[in-house]
Amino acid sequence: MAEPTFPWKLAWITGASGAIGGEIARRLAGAGVTVAATARSSDRLDQLAAGSERIKAFPADVLKPDELKEAVAKIESDLGSIDLALLGAGTYVPFDIRNIDLDGFHRSMALNVNGVINGIAAVLPSMLARRQGHIAIMGSLFGYAGWPGNGSYGASKAAVINLAESLKLELAGTGVALTIINPGFVDTPLNASYDPKKKLYVMSKERCARKILERLGRRPYEIAFPPQVEAFLKSVRSLPRAVSFPLIRWFTRKMGA
Ligand SMILES: NC(=O)c1ccc[n+]([C@@H]2O[C@H](COP(=O)([O-])OP(=O)(O)OC[C@H]3O[C@@H](n4cnc5c(N)ncnc54)[C@H](OP(=O)(O)O)[C@@H]3O)[C@@H](O)[C@H]2O)c1
Repeated sequence: MAEPTFPWKLAWITGASGAIGGEIARRLAGAGVTVAATARSSDRLDQLAAGSERIKAFPADVLKPDELKEAVAKIESDLGSIDLALLGAGTYVPFDIRNIDLDGFHRSMALNVNGVINGIAAVLPSMLARRQGHIAIMGSLFGYAGWPGNGSYGASKAAVINLAESLKLELAGTGVALTIINPGFVDTPLNASYDPKKKLYVMSKERCARKILERLGRRPYEIAFPPQVEAFLKSVRSLPRAVSFPLIRWFTRKMGA
C-alpha cells in the first residue's frame, strides 16, 4: 500500500536505529521525507542510511545535552529546518520489588525522560523562532496506569505523558505542534525480557509504524493503540483506587503474573 503523503520535508528521529524508529525512518524516506537519524551507534545508523539516500546519519547521545544541540545545529546547517522531531530513543528495564534494580531504574528514567527533554531543548528554540514545527514524543500505554513489574518503565512513561500535557498547553499559539505517541506491546528487542505470557495484543513494528504515520501528519495531541488496551488502561485510571487496584490484581493473576 502507498504511504500517505506527509507535511514534513525534514524529520529528525532519535532512536532511529531501533526497531520502531528505523521502521518509521524507512517509511518517511520512502515517501520523500529527508530523515536525519540519531542514535549512539554510527554502525547501525550507517546501515539504516545505506537503505535510502534520503536517510542521513547524525550520531549523538541523547543523554548529553550539548552533543545533542550540536547534532541539531549540524542537521539544520546541512539539511535545513527540522519540521518533525520524533523523540524515540528509549529502553525497558524490568522492576522487581524483592530485588530493586536501582541502576536500571535510573537508566530508564534518564533515557526515557531526560533523553526526551534534552531533545526538546535542542530542537524547540529554532521551531519557536520560525513559529513552525512538530514534536512527537514516544510514550507508552504503560504510562497511563501503574502495573505490576513496570515500576521503572511505567514511571518514566507517565512522566513524559505529563510533560507532554504541560508542553501542549504552553505551545498553544506558537505554531509548534506536540504529539504524544502511546503504543501497546510491539515485537521488538526492547521488551525481550518481558514474560511473553503477559504480552497482550502484541503488534509488529511495521504495524506500529503504519498506525503512527497514518495519523501523525494531522498533528493530533495523542496517538494511542491498540484501542482495546488504551480503553482498558484509561478506564482503570479513572476508576476509584478501591476498584482499580483489585481489578488490576485480578487481571494480572489471570495472566499468570
Ligand atoms: N517495543 C515496544 O513494545 C514499545 C511499546 C511502546 C512504546 N515504545 C517506545 O518506542 C521507542 C522505541 O522502542 P523500540 O522498541 O523501537 O526500541 P529499540 O529497538 O530498543 O531501540 C532503541 C533505540 O534507542 C537508541 N538509544 C538508546 N540509548 C540512546 C542514547 N543514550 N542516545 C541516543 N539513542 C539511544 C538505540 O540506539 P543506540 O543503542 O545505538 O544508541 C536504538 O536506536 C521507545 O521510546 C519505547 O519506549 C516501545
